Amino acid sequence: MIILGIETSCDETAASIVKAEKSNIKILSNIVSSSMELHSKTGGIIPEIAAREQIKYMIPVIDDALKTANILPGNIDAIAVTVGPGLIGSLLVGVETARTLSYVWEKPLIPVNHLFGHIYINFIDDDLRKIENFPAVALVVSGGHTDLVYMKNIQSVKWIAGTRDDAAGEAYDKIGRLLGLSYPAGPVIEKLAKSGNPKAYNFPRPLIHEDTFDFSFSGLKTAALREVEKEKSLTDEKVKNISRCVQDAIIDSLVTKTINAAKKYNAKFIILGGGVAANQTLRDRFLANLSMLGINFFAPVRNLCTDNGAMIAVAGFFNQNFIDWKNITANPELYFD
Ligand code: KG4
Ligand code: ZN
Repeated sequence: MIILGIETSCDETAASIVKAEKSNIKILSNIVSSSMELHSKTGGIIPEIAAREQIKYMIPVIDDALKTANILPGNIDAIAVTVGPGLIGSLLVGVETARTLSYVWEKPLIPVNHLFGHIYINFIDDDLRKIENFPAVALVVSGGHTDLVYMKNIQSVKWIAGTRDDAAGEAYDKIGRLLGLSYPAGPVIEKLAKSGNPKAYNFPRPLIHEDTFDFSFSGLKTAALREVEKEKSLTDEKVKNISRCVQDAIIDSLVTKTINAAKKYNAKFIILGGGVAANQTLRDRFLANLSMLGINFFAPVRNLCTDNGAMIAVAGFFNQNFIDWKNITANPELYFD
């Protein structure tokens, strides 16, 4: 089937055409327009600005996705759209566009949970789809979420644990702001960390030795703030060292908790999703730590880790709960279960 996927939960305006059969899933187009440049100046997303930009870009992005894929609206079988979680103004742009197109083109709608998108995009990998050897544990690690979920099979997603305060991406972004880095800070900190001294600071790894799979990252931000405030101006060296030690603390927490959960739940493989999953150091750490354990590891290619329409189309393919245009609603608080 051919699915148009629409994603507008945060600052991106994204649309994609995916051709999906059980044996083969192909992304025919994947267009992402971001208002990030506007937000990088303010150090974070201003919801109203994001939604206004999305209204401008929504139709051109869908048009581009159709043209790039060489697909006419008549050839589409369904429209998958993010209904939550996310910013309400942003979600409404996607949902109301999908509703209108569904009515005009007479195509069914599939409401998609954004978090499922980050998980299911992994299954475009032919090798992964062939694995019938579940269960699996997935780590969704983004700007808004850090969640561990248990997958008994490809259809079943059950929440295990999550962050008690900040998400991992949020920690990167907030600490980036303290360091005067541009938004989003995740990729910038990853780069700076490469030349930082891992022994410069001993930042906390809360809950790491406790009997819980929950995460906590707000203490890390406070610890970094204390170091920043110690000096009048930050030297480049200090920024690199803080970047390195912050990233090491975040990665330690993510990798330790996820592998502990995988062991407890007897997972045959771990999958990653969300913007922070684009971090190569994190991926390398998983690979290194899992090589001795016989647990497989999968993560999407980097441009499919951050928000995009293909992940929504693919999640729609695996969860075909078609609904009528009259019944779709945006839900900013949507979560697992
Ligand atoms: O999934 P995503 O695009 O949007 C949300 O659903 O939140 O994730 C965005 C987050 C931001 O916090 C950004 O700093 C982080 O992902 N991120 C990274 C990297 N690339 C993006 N964090 C660490 N390392 C990266 N390379
Ligand atoms: Zn996301």
